[in-house]
Amino acid sequence: MLDRQQRRPVVEMLESFTGTNPISFHVPGHKGGEFSGLPASVRGMLSWDVTELPGLDDLHAPEGPILEAQQLLAEAYGAGRSFFLVNGSTGGNLAMILSVCRPGDRVIVQRNAHKSIFNGLALAGARPVFLTPEWDMRTMAAGHVPAAVVREAIRLYPDAKAVILTNPTYYGRVSPELGTIAEACRRVGIPLLVDEAHGSHFGIGEPFPEPALRQGADVVVQSAHKTLPAMTMASFLHVSKDSLVDPSAVARQLGILQSSSPSYPLMASLDDARHFIATYRSADIRSFLDRRRFLIEGLTAMPSLSVIEADDPLKLLLRTEGRTGTDLQRALGAQGVHAELADDCQALLVLPLLKEGQDDRFAETLGRIGRALQDLPAAGNRPEPEIPSLPSSVTASVLPPAENPQSPAEWVHYTESADRISAASVIPYPPGIPLLLPGEPIRRETVGQLGRLLEAGVPFQGHHRLEDGQVLVLIQSSEAYSI
Ligand SMILES: Cc1ncc(COP(=O)(O)O)c(C=O)c1O
Repeated sequence: MLDRQQRRPVVEMLESFTGTNPISFHVPGHKGGEFSGLPASVRGMLSWDVTELPGLDDLHAPEGPILEAQQLLAEAYGAGRSFFLVNGSTGGNLAMILSVCRPGDRVIVQRNAHKSIFNGLALAGARPVFLTPEWDMRTMAAGHVPAAVVREAIRLYPDAKAVILTNPTYYGRVSPELGTIAEACRRVGIPLLVDEAHGSHFGIGEPFPEPALRQGADVVVQSAHKTLPAMTMASFLHVSKDSLVDPSAVARQLGILQSSSPSYPLMASLDDARHFIATYRSADIRSFLDRRRFLIEGLTAMPSLSVIEADDPLKLLLRTEGRTGTDLQRALGAQGVHAELADDCQALLVLPLLKEGQDDRFAETLGRIGRALQDLPAAGNRPEPEIPSLPSSVTASVLPPAENPQSPAEWVHYTESADRISAASVIPYPPGIPLLLPGEPIRRETVGQLGRLLEAGVPFQGHHRLEDGQVLVLIQSSEAYSI
């Protein structure tokens, strides 16, 4: 099998096509890059930016090298069927949702899912049942939805058409209960859909986590571009071998949602990323871990810097006493070391998934981080971060989450919003777990929480006017809707 995985059918197809010195009388208009005004280094790549010419196969009806590349992908990940995504996990999340539910269907979903999940539910007209994740003290961020909460939601809504979870978290924590949840879903015949955007490198061996597909998920979406050497947007969707979801329904949705002119460089990049991960050996893991240890030891030796390791060895969190993660991110950036993100507490580094012999630049990185620490603002007296109070574990929306101008809505003072239906999301940050979601009835308890957060000066994301104390609610009262 490894021999087959050495192949890169889409890359080989494009190499052989460009080797014929083709003359373009077809789209795209840059004609192999000749008429592009971009710098030469980028123009070089445009010779691969072709279209569905005879012999170059078609992502939407693959019969040749693209079909073979997707079959190799399914084989590498142990899936029943796998798809190349050219519009990120965003497109994959939309497709997996639209392939399982119809207007009015109940879907059980993690409250702090990515916006593409909520957009998918809105497009499907599904009525979500929201599950609140636990707070993770290690990463000081939202963690996972406990199995008991998923079981309770299934008990309350046995007619749900799917359970949708996010695993791992952005900060690299994985659910210890994903397998148990998958079993619970399978027992009642509800498909488990997992947004594994940050975990396309899982499954290569210890200490990397087990991928969702091997734990019993029915459909899994992965942003190959996040942790594998793939171009931005390049992503994978896998349907498991014994999936409750029909892979041809997913294919149909992808045909609707994805461009009719999918990018060949992106598909080649996906083929190459699959080859990279399928040929990742235990010697590569050892080499990666040695170099990671060198980096961590160098970092922990620096005064006032602490390093938090996640479950995913690719993720490291850096904290500096008395400063915010944003302060640290800014100082690192000034030294040309660019962190993935920062919050109040920490900056997140995503390490490269190195293979044996690949250059890591970690010694140079340590030198630059050392200089960045000297440039940090003076340490302030920052209070210890607290465990935030979170919304109830299982709440049901009465409407699809259609955050759109067609829903008749009005602004009201939040103190008068109890028993109305939220028309928008309101997300306190931290913790980044939505307090209100569109279509969700507003409880008295939530109004109280909102008041306490406002008093504490917590910033809010979403669509609101909380600087004037206002939230957006639907014009009809909740009695108009059946729960
Ligand atoms: C959990 C999660 N899901 C989905 C996405 C969307 O992925 P993409 O950028 O590949 O469309 C992201 C992006 O950050 C994400 O963090």
